[in-house]
Amino acid sequence: MKRLIVANWKMHFGPSGASTLAEKLRAAVKTDPNVTVVLCPPSIDLLTLAKDVDQNQFSLGAQNIFYEDEGAFTGEISGPMLDGLARYVIVGHSERRHIFGEDDKMVAKKVAAVLRNQLKAILCVGEQLSEREGGVAEKVVTDQLTAALHGVGPDDLPNLAVAYEPVWAIGTGVAAKPDDVEPIMKTIMATLTRLYGEEAAAKVPLLYGGSVNQDDAKAYLDLPDVNGLLVGGASLVAETFAAIVKTAQSLA
Ligand code: PGA
Repeated sequence: MKRLIVANWKMHFGPSGASTLAEKLRAAVKTDPNVTVVLCPPSIDLLTLAKDVDQNQFSLGAQNIFYEDEGAFTGEISGPMLDGLARYVIVGHSERRHIFGEDDKMVAKKVAAVLRNQLKAILCVGEQLSEREGGVAEKVVTDQLTAALHGVGPDDLPNLAVAYEPVWAIGTGVAAKPDDVEPIMKTIMATLTRLYGEEAAAKVPLLYGGSVNQDDAKAYLDLPDVNGLLVGGASLVAETFAAIVKTAQSLA
């Protein structure tokens, strides 16, 4: 399976800063048919980057979407608006869940909106520290995944990737140990298999995210069930992100 390396720039850079970073990445990252690189800037930068970026080199993604296509929803951006600007959308990121109060039902509606608009969903799931310490990490992830995929049919699976992002590892510098990641990936794959069958499930890329850096990227990509990475902080610096992409390319 093609590896998928996703940069989540979060709320960093306006259009000119985003252009500058994309330009540095253009020079630093080689195109490789075995590795898809997705840049997810703030939505306000997508128009600029869609013009600047060679989409054979980088795909573009949005960090969020609203679940209705049009209407009186102040401040929101819909699937049809992303037409021609983004191919991927991150859905259910823990910052959306915990800072903006998105619950499983809303995440499910957003996944449906992404798929209905012929975009690709990068669905994030992950437990909080207290849940891990309480021994319920696998249950939390399974419940989040099952709820988010309510209404997703087997035909939609080619447009789905699942990112396991333990909340306690995001932006903390405390990445999850590969040994702790692998059982959760197996749980995710088992859930997808239960819902859609083995053949369809096996085609869904599974990503790890949470304090990934250039030194530990390989350890996650070496795990049998991991097909890619969702990178936050380390994607804000061209050299670091390019090094992570290079690592993926060297394994592909
Ligand atoms: P981080 O963020 O790499 O800064 O931990 C990852 C994410 O939130 O997607």
